[in-house]
Amino acid sequence: MPLPLFLPCAAGVEEWLFEEVRRLLPETSPTRIERTRGGVALEGEPLEVMTLNLESRLAQRVLIEVAEGPYAHENDLYELARTVDWQQWITPQHTLRVDTTAQRSPLRSLNFAALRIKDAVCDQLRDATGERPSVDIRQPDLPLVLHAGAERAALYVDSSGESLFKRGWREDVGDAPLKETLAAAMLAAAGWRGTPPAGGALHDPCCGSGTIAIEAAQIACGIAPGLKRRFGFERLLPFSSAEMRAQLQRLRSAAQARIHASAVPIFASDVSFRMVDFARRNAQRAGVEAAIVFNGGDALERPAPVLPAELPGTLMINPPYGERMEVGGKAGRPPAQRRDGPEVRHATGDDGGDNRALPDDFFARLAAHWKRAYTQHPAGWTAHVLSPDMKLPSAMRLKESRRVPMWNGPIECRLFRFDLIAGSTRPARVQEP
Ligand SMILES: C[S@@+](CC[C@H](N)C(=O)[O-])C[C@H]1O[C@@H](n2cnc3c(N)ncnc32)[C@H](O)[C@@H]1O
Repeated sequence: MPLPLFLPCAAGVEEWLFEEVRRLLPETSPTRIERTRGGVALEGEPLEVMTLNLESRLAQRVLIEVAEGPYAHENDLYELARTVDWQQWITPQHTLRVDTTAQRSPLRSLNFAALRIKDAVCDQLRDATGERPSVDIRQPDLPLVLHAGAERAALYVDSSGESLFKRGWREDVGDAPLKETLAAAMLAAAGWRGTPPAGGALHDPCCGSGTIAIEAAQIACGIAPGLKRRFGFERLLPFSSAEMRAQLQRLRSAAQARIHASAVPIFASDVSFRMVDFARRNAQRAGVEAAIVFNGGDALERPAPVLPAELPGTLMINPPYGERMEVGGKAGRPPAQRRDGPEVRHATGDDGGDNRALPDDFFARLAAHWKRAYTQHPAGWTAHVLSPDMKLPSAMRLKESRRVPMWNGPIECRLFRFDLIAGSTRPARVQEP
């Protein structure tokens, strides 16, 4: 019996997640996959639940819907949760946790709603077996997610356990790291697929802990994002039989067998040598150290990587935002240490209120450097910059060829595309109000 599944993703990423699910499940009829606000809904067998957990780069989780219906009060949610046969999912020796999300919900307390769901699961198992499961908020065997809408609520089993952006390789964390799922979304939105015609070489000159380059290298090497981690479903009864375990093992072995050398070069650099070191160690754990060329250096000065004439290049950056991070290198030096001393504005970040140097002209200088260093390459470079600054193109004096809305956590951003072909860069004309 197919299960109703929901794969949530960051706002703005639904289209690419939809394409990814269709690619990962070619046997599934396209009519059974639906793009909705905030994610993708489909019907899938347990095998597909396992495949999506192992292979999706863009989904935050794979949720299995177990109950859905109208409600007005917390007690209605108790009744809704009692409609599920929980003995199919866990034994009283398992643990559970209930998380809630709500949109225009009439409920006064989501904590109380979570409590009622927990009661329903525990009461049903106690009635049936005389024993009740306990709650574990850290590592529950059965993570449940309640989504309470205005009139209807849906209850899901979270088959992923830990969120899927946790790929299992990140131990060294820099300031303001991107979530792996967002880095993957930037690459998907750029059409970068790790082959010479689909994006060509990749360079992140502000790589931090390396998220973009590592995601890119895994794509280029055919490494499934979930190969280094375990999933919540592995502890649930529907996935615990010997046959299910063997199926998961077969999926993992097939994914392992698909790994190959990258067909395109990938470059990562950062002004902070500590960050480059972090990125290199993360890449090693992710199995892609050999696929990435790491360097220290200022993005305002580093020469463009030299590529074969016919290979296009993709610059992809998640630059410092100012409020969250410091710009380093040539532009970030305090005025006293600088030869050319542009104005430095002291921004008060909302991440603790400390003063951080934010040079006004960092992006203008970055663009000037790109115009000098990246426009000579015959096959051309295309730059993609993730920024919350809607006026970034005018600050860079570049005209963007595309802007894609994306959310970096709570920060509304755009992924701007600039085509760096000789003669194509010109002053910005279009500005968003
Ligand atoms: C927002 S972080 C990037 C985070 C990264 N995407 C990750 O996931 O870890 C910005 C990075 O830009 C680097 N940076 C700041 N100024 C730079 C410059 N002038 N040249 C190169 N890197 C710079 C910082 O050291 C920081 O690692």
